[in-house]
Amino acid sequence: MADVTAYEKLQEDLQGTQSRWLITGVAGFIGSNLLETLLRLDQKVVGLDNFSTGFQHNLDEVQGLVSEQQWQNFTFIEGDIRNPGDCSAACAKVDYVLHQAALGSVPRSIEDPALTNANNITGFLNMLIAARDAGVRRFVYAASSSTYGDHPDLPKVEDKIGNPLSPYAVTKLVDELYAKVFARTYGFKTIGLRYFNIFGRRQDPDGAYAAVIPKWFAGMIQGKELFINGDGSTSRDFCYIDNCVQANLLAAVAEEDAAVDQVYNVAFGERTSLNDLFGLIRSRVQISYPEAADLQPEYRDFRAGDVLHSLADIGKARTLLGYEPKYSIETGLDEAAGWYLSHLAG
Ligand SMILES: NC(=O)c1ccc[n+]([C@@H]2O[C@H](COP(=O)([O-])OP(=O)(O)OC[C@H]3O[C@@H](n4cnc5c(N)ncnc54)[C@H](O)[C@@H]3O)[C@@H](O)[C@H]2O)c1
Repeated sequence: MADVTAYEKLQEDLQGTQSRWLITGVAGFIGSNLLETLLRLDQKVVGLDNFSTGFQHNLDEVQGLVSEQQWQNFTFIEGDIRNPGDCSAACAKVDYVLHQAALGSVPRSIEDPALTNANNITGFLNMLIAARDAGVRRFVYAASSSTYGDHPDLPKVEDKIGNPLSPYAVTKLVDELYAKVFARTYGFKTIGLRYFNIFGRRQDPDGAYAAVIPKWFAGMIQGKELFINGDGSTSRDFCYIDNCVQANLLAAVAEEDAAVDQVYNVAFGERTSLNDLFGLIRSRVQISYPEAADLQPEYRDFRAGDVLHSLADIGKARTLLGYEPKYSIETGLDEAAGWYLSHLAG
């Protein structure tokens, strides 16, 4: 019999006990996927969101995927992490916080650094204070690979970071600094997860700040123009959403002293160039849309604030959390393609 992974064991354990979780940003891409998994595991979940970049339809989709009884375990609070009162109300009687709410996107932060700062730093600090005061068992938060900034080394190892290249990257770095200081000054220990280009179902394909994978799926399915910023050699460690969900749950229940008050890379551990990614998505879309076989990207200038290459060393999460990403970019794209093809067809 194959060895049981730490995540399989955790899922079994959770099914036997019901805890109360808070997911901020629950109507967004990653938040709604965390919600789906936790409800399927019969957990009680409080969700907080202000719908700035999240959607009611993400919550509706999760409702359709779980049983009526599991959905009864979910309480939604429409609120804003910039408001300390909303954070306190959401943290009441909560065991685990999975803090996802923030304004994503490097270009958005370059256009409006003050708004990104208010959501990602003030909002983050409000959540830390509320979670500390409520005595939650664990605060896990979405950090970012953008924190590596201009550090040249590949693969990226957690303790070697460079200078931030965008206001967004500054906010995610400041969050890590606050988290460290909360451990030192109040003994409130957290875990930060530096996500590397997460993708999968319910990631928004629309708008000026959409991520590349949903944007290209939508563009190929709906016949829109497809752009590559730069010459296409830019590479990323693309990571399927189920790997990210796994990392969050493992981080929430990690008990060992060495594992907490830490940040971890959350990625698959391989990098793919944008040119290769284009081909991988096109080959999946053309199964349903044979005319997509002829699609080619249009190349334009590199974007300010973007790092050129990104690849994670995931050894720390493997060793200390038992993280074993199950989906490669190919198998993740297979899953994502099924969702985009059924949701975006005209
Ligand atoms: N998707 C990625 O590849 C990636 C990479 C690195 C880091 N992250 C981080 O992961 C987290 C989740 O990202 P996502 O991709 O799911 O984005 P998303 O935009 O789909 O989700 C963010 C959610 O937070 C909510 N939100 C934003 N500001 C809020 C506020 N002030 N109060 C309450 N709710 C608020 C939004 O409405 C949205 O539902 C973010 O912190 C993001 O910075 C994501």
